[in-house]
Amino acid sequence: MIRNGHGHVLRWWNEIGERGRARLLQQLSSIDFDELDSLSRRYREGKPPVSLEGIEPADVISLPKTKGEISALERIRRIGEEAFRAGEVAAFLVAGGQATRLGIETPKGTFKITPIKKKTIFEHHAEKIRAISKRYGKPFPFYVMTSETNGEPTREFFERHRHFGLNPADVFFFKQDMMPALDLEGRLVLDAKDHIFASPNGHGGSISSLEKSGALADMKARGIKYLSYFQVDNVLIKIGDPIFIGYHIAKGAEMSVKVAPKRDPEEKVGVVCRLGDITTVIEYSDLPKEHKYALNKDGSLRFSAGNLAIHVLSVSFVERLNAEKHSLPFHIAEKAIPFLDDRGELVKPKQKNGLKFERFVFDALSHAQASAIVEVNRDEEFAPIKNADGEDSPETARDLMIRLYAKWLEGAGMQIPHNAGGRVKGLLEISPLFALDADELKRKLSPSFEVRLPLYLGP
Ligand code: UTP
Repeated sequence: MIRNGHGHVLRWWNEIGERGRARLLQQLSSIDFDELDSLSRRYREGKPPVSLEGIEPADVISLPKTKGEISALERIRRIGEEAFRAGEVAAFLVAGGQATRLGIETPKGTFKITPIKKKTIFEHHAEKIRAISKRYGKPFPFYVMTSETNGEPTREFFERHRHFGLNPADVFFFKQDMMPALDLEGRLVLDAKDHIFASPNGHGGSISSLEKSGALADMKARGIKYLSYFQVDNVLIKIGDPIFIGYHIAKGAEMSVKVAPKRDPEEKVGVVCRLGDITTVIEYSDLPKEHKYALNKDGSLRFSAGNLAIHVLSVSFVERLNAEKHSLPFHIAEKAIPFLDDRGELVKPKQKNGLKFERFVFDALSHAQASAIVEVNRDEEFAPIKNADGEDSPETARDLMIRLYAKWLEGAGMQIPHNAGGRVKGLLEISPLFALDADELKRKLSPSFEVRLPLYLGP
């Protein structure tokens, strides 16, 4: 069962008792040593260069500019809305990650985020889902992928908060798989005398776990055809955007992606490109300088379609990937991994001492027979919370929320006080249950409404 070179995991065999031995054996029996060996080899030999022969920018559906383009959008919106009214759309949240950079011990979704009411990320997402379900008069099922590291706390959090008003029968939790890590010599790592360190296998693990968990079968039984995929940390996400779903359907797409122009050539974001007939995401580190800096005639970046990790996945696509046994590749990252020292005590190192392996959902894009690559306004749809402070932190996300609410209010004819730097002078919060978007807000507010900050608009 154990390969050469991994015998050290039995070091405390005589100490761990029957239960511990059973736990360790069970974990060992699920490990694919061939796969680990080949990943370790790939790390030692270095990643082979990605072939970019024939690389072209992706065919992006740009933001509408002309009147004609704006009115054409209405047709697309109607297509998406029809799918909602037919009950064919579900929300799919991947929330199995470990929030290492944010540095909290609880699931990231339990983080208090909204500017005034300090609602948690989960509550904010749940309010959007309730609002959408109400808008279309149909259940909007919510599938939540967690992992071994945060599955129970996530479920308990929802239960404790009565699913934030969602119908529990329409919320489906499932866990993704775990993947053991290796030390830099390619050996398994113990984080307890009877346990091998493992971490969630990446958001790309969702493709197989959707099937394994029964989520896919549940979707099919409910007549769900399209999944609005989002990540827990993007608090500006437009869950179930009918325009995005509309483009996906109109294009006969299997998987679609929202993109925004890269801010600068070195921005660390994957770029959606075309390689021959295949649309794919090229990681920042795989795009050579000549492409990173290549310009169009108008001076804009040629390879600029930054992946915002917002997708539509057709249920039939997820089904096909599983039926055809496509497993998405593992990406290798050097990370700090907790380990047992010689005395059997747990050490949490600061420096990188091992390798974690993750599958990325965007790798599924290259398997899609068709896709819609839709440009959006980044500031209106993308506010990820990755770090405790600085870039992509709770502070930047709150700031983006306030800016967006101010923009909606201004669109409804209200005056919002700004300081010299352009920041809103005070706090603003609009619950999705009050308005999901600028149009709804405009309809709800009378022109005589006066904004006084701080302002909370809720149900
Ligand atoms: P990130 O890659 O940003 O990871 O995940 P993270 O766990 O949130 O944070 P770090 O890297 O540990 O600091 C992006 C999205 O993918 C989900 C996360 O929960 C988040 O919604 N994810 C990530 C999974 O669902 N499973 C994984 O194995 C990894």
